[in-house]
Amino acid sequence: MASEERENRRDFLNRVIVGLFSLSALIIGVPLIRFLFPPSQIIERRGRKMPVGKVSDIPDGSSKTVLFDGRPVILINYGGKINAVSAICPHMGCFLRWDEKIGQIKCPCHFAVFNVNGSVISGPSPEPLKTYRVEISDNRIFIIKE
Ligand code: FES
Repeated sequence: MASEERENRRDFLNRVIVGLFSLSALIIGVPLIRFLFPPSQIIERRGRKMPVGKVSDIPDGSSKTVLFDGRPVILINYGGKINAVSAICPHMGCFLRWDEKIGQIKCPCHFAVFNVNGSVISGPSPEPLKTYRVEISDNRIFIIKE
């Protein structure tokens, strides 16, 4: 009788412990998952478009470099239209910059020059810059993941 009572008590304690572990996993796990993958981000990834900034942060003629899909991209406001081109030179991978004064993208390494659409104007670059499709919604800039 005493041993049966001990077994019942042990079973009960085991269930309580398992229950407590499950409850704490839920209490910790759900907020952690929501923190790592916010719902808006999940929806936007599914929609294959990613928010990368605000139009109001890039006055006409200026640029901003952002990360998209782990790659640097230059957003350029050119006459009110936002263009998005790779910030990496196709020649040897140098980091490009937008020259606001002349409205061109320049490579500091071997002086390749590109226009706002990423086409080669001059220099050793063997190909134009990768371009990205942009969508604007409520002042927010999205790059479409293709
Ligand atoms: Fe840009 Fe050579 S790396 S021109």
